[in-house]
Amino acid sequence: MNPVQTFEITSWEEAFPPALQNDAICSLENGQVLFLPHLAFTLSPQETRFLSPQWSDGKSKNISYDGKAIKGAQGNESDLAQLKAMIARFASQATHLVSDLFPEYVPHLGHGRTSFRPFEVEQRASSYKKDDKRLHVDAFPSRPTHGERILRVFANINPDNRPRIWRVGEPFESLANHYLPQIKSPFPGSAWMMDKLGITKGRRSEYDHIMLHLHDTMKADLDYQKNGPQQELALPAGCVWIVFSDQVLHAAMSGQYMLEQTFHLPLAALHNQQTAPLKVLERLTGRPLVA
Ligand code: SIN
Ligand code: FE
Repeated sequence: MNPVQTFEITSWEEAFPPALQNDAICSLENGQVLFLPHLAFTLSPQETRFLSPQWSDGKSKNISYDGKAIKGAQGNESDLAQLKAMIARFASQATHLVSDLFPEYVPHLGHGRTSFRPFEVEQRASSYKKDDKRLHVDAFPSRPTHGERILRVFANINPDNRPRIWRVGEPFESLANHYLPQIKSPFPGSAWMMDKLGITKGRRSEYDHIMLHLHDTMKADLDYQKNGPQQELALPAGCVWIVFSDQVLHAAMSGQYMLEQTFHLPLAALHNQQTAPLKVLERLTGRPLVA
């Protein structure tokens, strides 16, 4: 399987032909990166000043927007209002794009955060687990998903024509086959305890336990990082790409200035649930992984 499928899409809002919508949903759910080389998120001349790390408050690496307010930014009131408007416009355009490309998802689409990443891809992460230059699937220790999908729309808005360089890895099922034998069951009572202590938002299901261990184990495996199946992907300035980041093995190697919109999708929204990480892992382990 080619890890990338290219779509000649040039506008954020369009009545796409059904054949294109069908191609898009099949490629996405099969774990391909949907690459839209001719769709750019454009900044107004006044907004280009936001392409600088100076707007970060220095505490968090991204500036984020939750549909109401921005976090992680600094500036005067008027600057922050304009920065927020730029990020909110991206959120809105990404929502139109996803809705027009995947109409089946619309009734189920959950809106996650929008993030603006003004820093160069980090040279030194604080720990290997946080190092997104290592191949991984997205899984977050404090946020159990219970199998809900993580759909992300990315836009490279670099003003100097610099690509964002990613690596993408093997299909999710091969990865799961590779690492499942090493992953031990959670300690009885640990999901209840982490929820009670506020370590997780809600109970960590066995699915979340496995996803998190896949994430950590592959990031710790330097031999896999170096010699595992993978391919480099140059995502040029002025392009968009869309992935299920809980399914596509990815690593960000270099680049600066990107916008990203997260959506959450329940399994019921999918055209084909069988390729979802939850279904793949349940098939491989032979048991239900979400209570
Ligand atoms: C990631 O989602 O792992 C990083 C994506 C990026 O910064 O390009
Ligand atoms: Fe990631």
